[in-house]
Amino acid sequence: MIKIAIDGTAASGKGTLAKKLASKYNFVHLDTGLLYRKVASDLIDQKKMNYGNLEVNSCEIAKKLDFQDLIKENLRSEEIASLASKIATIPELRKILDNKQKTFVNENINKFSGCVLDGRDIGTKILPNADFKFFIDASIEIRAKRRLLEKNISFLHENDEECMLQSLIEKMIVRDRLDNNRLISPLVPAEDAYVIDTSSMNAEQLFLEVSKIIEGKL
Ligand code: CDP
Repeated sequence: MIKIAIDGTAASGKGTLAKKLASKYNFVHLDTGLLYRKVASDLIDQKKMNYGNLEVNSCEIAKKLDFQDLIKENLRSEEIASLASKIATIPELRKILDNKQKTFVNENINKFSGCVLDGRDIGTKILPNADFKFFIDASIEIRAKRRLLEKNISFLHENDEECMLQSLIEKMIVRDRLDNNRLISPLVPAEDAYVIDTSSMNAEQLFLEVSKIIEGKL
């Protein structure tokens, strides 16, 4: 099985890239952020976000997590994303979710000729022997603009749009800081990763560049 690991910052383009590659090569795809988001979302729904029990509560939810429940559209809010990055610092939770991700790959080994996983620690932790590793980043302003566009909100006033953009930038900075500085599985490029800055690239250009790298080696 050919393994492709894609890591990177929020709204850097890693998710779209992963989907496009999986579709092009008919590989199985897992957006690993959805696992963290689903645990965060269940914590919110069950009103179990109080700090004292966050570790116990999130681990309990993670153990029962079912891949069928990972419905992306329900998990995209910034509230869920912020809590996801907080709980992503809990070592015991990461252990449970790491195992789920590895099991996902093993269960698909005989069903697909390849897999694409995207997240924060795929190249360093989940698939350290991946055939291809990519680390995708872009400037914070560009990433926040992309996230805002994804939300598809139409603003009556330019000021409201600017205000929302600034608030998004602040939230993404906090999340980047948590992801980059946590002790366990921080967001860092694997030594053998191709690092790509997508600040001045669109999704198609990134896809073409990465496809070229993959096909040059296959
Ligand atoms: O889509 P976006 O990049 O904004 O976020 P995501 O990939 O859905 O991940 C949400 C949060 O989960 C991240 O900010 C990380 O803190 C955490 N995460 C992680 O720690 N490890 C992963 N492999 C995937 C996500």
